[in-house]
Amino acid sequence: MKILIINGPNLNFLGIREPNIYGTKSYSDLINYLKEFTKQLNDKKINLNVLFFQSNHEGAIIDKIQEAYLNHIDGIIINPGAFTHYSYAIHDAIKSVNIKTVEVHLSNINEREEFRKISVIRPACINTFMGKQFESYREAILYLIDEISKE
Ligand code: DQA
Repeated sequence: MKILIINGPNLNFLGIREPNIYGTKSYSDLINYLKEFTKQLNDKKINLNVLFFQSNHEGAIIDKIQEAYLNHIDGIIINPGAFTHYSYAIHDAIKSVNIKTVEVHLSNINEREEFRKISVIRPACINTFMGKQFESYREAILYLIDEISKE
Protein backbone atom coordinates (compact mmCIF):
# COMPACT_ATOMS: atom_id res chain seq x y z
CA MET A 1 0.00 0.00 0.00
CA LYS A 2 1.45 3.35 -1.07
CA ILE A 3 0.54 6.52 0.84
CA LEU A 4 1.76 9.99 -0.09
CA ILE A 5 1.99 12.64 2.65
CA ILE A 6 1.94 16.18 1.29
CA ASN A 7 2.80 19.19 3.42
CA GLY A 8 2.10 22.67 2.09
CA PRO A 9 3.54 26.13 2.64
CA ASN A 10 5.56 27.02 5.74
CA LEU A 11 5.47 23.50 7.13
CA ASN A 12 9.18 23.22 6.32
CA PHE A 13 9.54 25.95 8.99
CA LEU A 14 8.13 23.83 11.81
CA GLY A 15 10.02 24.52 15.02
CA ILE A 16 10.80 28.05 13.82
CA ARG A 17 7.33 29.34 12.99
CA GLU A 18 5.00 30.25 15.87
CA PRO A 19 6.20 27.49 18.25
CA ASN A 20 3.39 28.37 20.68
CA ILE A 21 0.93 27.09 18.02
CA TYR A 22 2.87 24.51 16.01
CA GLY A 23 5.35 23.25 18.62
CA THR A 24 9.14 23.28 18.80
CA LYS A 25 9.81 20.20 16.70
CA SER A 26 11.11 20.58 13.15
CA TYR A 27 9.82 19.30 9.81
CA SER A 28 12.51 16.62 9.79
CA ASP A 29 11.36 15.58 13.30
CA LEU A 30 7.88 15.11 11.79
CA ILE A 31 9.24 12.98 8.95
CA ASN A 32 11.30 10.86 11.36
CA TYR A 33 8.29 10.41 13.64
CA LEU A 34 6.17 9.22 10.69
CA LYS A 35 8.93 6.95 9.34
CA GLU A 36 9.24 5.33 12.78
CA PHE A 37 5.46 4.83 12.93
CA THR A 38 5.52 3.30 9.43
CA LYS A 39 8.27 0.93 10.55
CA GLN A 40 6.16 -0.17 13.54
CA LEU A 41 3.23 -0.87 11.20
CA ASN A 42 5.43 -2.80 8.79
CA ASP A 43 6.72 -4.88 11.71
CA LYS A 44 3.05 -5.82 12.16
CA LYS A 45 2.96 -6.89 8.48
CA ILE A 46 0.87 -3.98 7.18
CA ASN A 47 3.20 -3.57 4.16
CA LEU A 48 3.07 0.20 3.95
CA ASN A 49 5.20 2.47 1.78
CA VAL A 50 4.96 6.13 2.84
CA LEU A 51 6.29 8.87 0.56
CA PHE A 52 6.80 12.49 1.63
CA PHE A 53 6.53 15.77 -0.23
CA GLN A 54 6.65 19.38 0.97
CA SER A 55 6.28 22.51 -1.11
CA ASN A 56 5.55 26.19 -0.62
CA HIS A 57 4.07 26.35 -4.14
CA GLU A 58 0.47 25.61 -5.07
CA GLY A 59 1.33 24.42 -8.60
CA ALA A 60 3.99 21.99 -7.33
CA ILE A 61 1.42 20.46 -4.96
CA ILE A 62 -1.07 20.07 -7.83
CA ASP A 63 1.64 18.47 -10.02
CA LYS A 64 2.41 16.03 -7.19
CA ILE A 65 -1.27 15.07 -6.80
CA GLN A 66 -1.52 14.40 -10.55
CA GLU A 67 1.72 12.41 -10.42
CA ALA A 68 0.19 10.32 -7.60
CA TYR A 69 -2.49 9.21 -10.06
CA LEU A 70 0.09 8.18 -12.66
CA ASN A 71 2.16 6.36 -9.99
CA HIS A 72 -0.85 4.41 -8.65
CA ILE A 73 -0.67 5.88 -5.14
CA ASP A 74 -3.40 4.31 -2.96
CA GLY A 75 -4.01 7.20 -0.60
CA ILE A 76 -3.00 10.79 0.11
CA ILE A 77 -2.67 12.66 3.40
CA ILE A 78 -2.46 16.41 2.96
CA ASN A 79 -1.76 19.31 5.27
CA PRO A 80 -2.33 22.11 2.77
CA GLY A 81 -1.16 24.87 5.19
CA ALA A 82 -2.85 28.17 4.40
CA PHE A 83 -3.97 26.81 1.00
CA THR A 84 -6.58 24.98 3.08
CA HIS A 85 -8.59 28.16 3.27
CA TYR A 86 -8.67 29.26 -0.37
CA SER A 87 -7.16 26.83 -2.88
CA TYR A 88 -9.97 25.61 -5.09
CA ALA A 89 -7.21 24.42 -7.45
CA ILE A 90 -5.95 21.91 -4.87
CA HIS A 91 -9.54 20.90 -4.14
CA ASP A 92 -10.06 20.26 -7.87
CA ALA A 93 -6.77 18.33 -8.16
CA ILE A 94 -7.85 15.96 -5.36
CA LYS A 95 -11.24 15.48 -7.03
CA SER A 96 -9.54 14.87 -10.40
CA VAL A 97 -7.41 11.93 -9.33
CA ASN A 98 -10.05 9.99 -7.41
CA ILE A 99 -7.54 8.88 -4.75
CA LYS A 100 -8.80 8.66 -1.16
CA THR A 101 -7.44 11.75 0.57
CA VAL A 102 -7.39 12.76 4.24
CA GLU A 103 -6.90 16.36 5.42
CA VAL A 104 -4.69 16.98 8.47
CA HIS A 105 -3.72 19.97 10.58
CA LEU A 106 -1.36 20.30 13.52
CA SER A 107 -3.55 22.93 15.16
CA ASN A 108 -7.31 22.95 15.63
CA ILE A 109 -8.35 25.34 12.84
CA ASN A 110 -11.90 25.51 14.21
CA GLU A 111 -10.66 27.27 17.34
CA ARG A 112 -8.47 29.92 15.72
CA GLU A 113 -9.08 33.01 13.55
CA GLU A 114 -12.35 33.15 11.56
CA PHE A 115 -10.57 32.74 8.19
CA ARG A 116 -9.11 29.41 9.30
CA LYS A 117 -12.51 27.91 10.11
CA ILE A 118 -13.22 27.46 6.41
CA SER A 119 -11.52 24.60 4.58
CA VAL A 120 -12.18 24.48 0.84
CA ILE A 121 -10.15 21.24 0.76
CA ARG A 122 -12.37 19.31 3.20
CA PRO A 123 -15.23 18.57 0.75
CA ALA A 124 -12.73 16.75 -1.51
CA CYS A 125 -11.47 14.60 1.40
CA ILE A 126 -12.87 11.54 3.15
CA ASN A 127 -12.00 12.82 6.64
CA THR A 128 -10.09 15.44 8.62
CA PHE A 129 -7.81 15.01 11.65
CA MET A 130 -6.61 18.10 13.47
CA GLY A 131 -5.49 19.71 16.69
CA LYS A 132 -3.19 16.95 17.92
CA GLN A 133 0.13 18.14 16.47
CA PHE A 134 2.10 15.17 15.01
CA GLU A 135 -0.51 12.73 16.31
CA SER A 136 -3.02 14.13 13.75
CA TYR A 137 -0.91 12.51 10.99
CA ARG A 138 -0.76 9.19 12.84
CA GLU A 139 -4.54 9.11 13.15
CA ALA A 140 -4.84 9.96 9.45
CA ILE A 141 -2.52 7.09 8.45
CA LEU A 142 -4.48 4.54 10.49
CA TYR A 143 -7.80 5.80 9.13
CA LEU A 144 -6.56 5.74 5.54
CA ILE A 145 -5.15 2.20 5.85
CA ASP A 146 -8.60 1.04 7.05
CA GLU A 147 -10.41 2.83 4.23
CA ILE A 148 -8.05 1.53 1.52
CA SER A 149 -8.28 -2.00 2.90
CA LYS A 150 -12.07 -1.88 2.42
CA GLU A 151 -11.66 -1.43 -1.36
C1 DQA B 1 -2.16 24.43 9.49
C2 DQA B 1 -3.25 25.45 9.80
C3 DQA B 1 -3.32 26.50 8.71
O1 DQA B 1 -4.34 27.46 9.01
C4 DQA B 1 -1.99 27.24 8.61
O2 DQA B 1 -2.04 28.18 7.56
C5 DQA B 1 -0.84 26.31 8.46
C6 DQA B 1 -0.82 25.09 9.27
C7 DQA B 1 -1.99 23.41 10.65
O3 DQA B 1 -1.33 22.40 10.41
O4 DQA B 1 -2.45 23.64 11.77
O5 DQA B 1 0.11 26.59 7.74
O6 DQA B 1 -2.53 23.71 8.34
